[in-house]
Amino acid sequence: MNLIKKILAAQAAVLALWAVSAQAANNDAIAERLKPVGEVCISGQECAGVGAVASAAGGGAMSADDVIAKHCNACHGSGVLGAPKIGDSAAWQAHADAAGGLDGLLKHAISGINAMPPKGTCAECGDEELLAAIKKMSGLE
Ligand code: HEC
Repeated sequence: MNLIKKILAAQAAVLALWAVSAQAANNDAIAERLKPVGEVCISGQECAGVGAVASAAGGGAMSADDVIAKHCNACHGSGVLGAPKIGDSAAWQAHADAAGGLDGLLKHAISGINAMPPKGTCAECGDEELLAAIKKMSGLE
């Protein structure tokens, strides 16, 4: 090995050690930075951070009011074809009982049922948006 190669090898070793210790320090810093997110976003509960990111990114999720006004209201506003009317909690409760709760309602809203079209015609709606619209129209939680 000539001298240049020895020097390079030694430097590489030093660099590797430095990188390892720098990474160790960073892990603590990363854990610290991630902590508040882990505290805010509890599985099964709404995560304020995610919603904020989605709306900050533009587009993102439509509000329940938007989804209802643009799509669901056409039928659920007046109850055409036997659609449970917005705010008619007894009618919604009957559908929820038959479907097996909110989860069942969401499944039927996604797949469609009888005269209810798949996704209530909101093709771009995600499950969360449909669920929010269902909750708002029915008053069910
Ligand atoms: C073209 C008319 C129409 C539109 C638009 C519509 N619905 Fe419906 N919806 C119906 C009808 C009719 C029913 C009753 C179906 C039945 O039980 O026979 C229904 C029932 C439902 C039910 C109850 C399903 C069940 O299990 O009984 C849910 C939930 C629902 N709609 C959600 C929505 C949502 C959310 C939207 C908007 C994104 C929407 N609907 C848009 C007509 C519509």
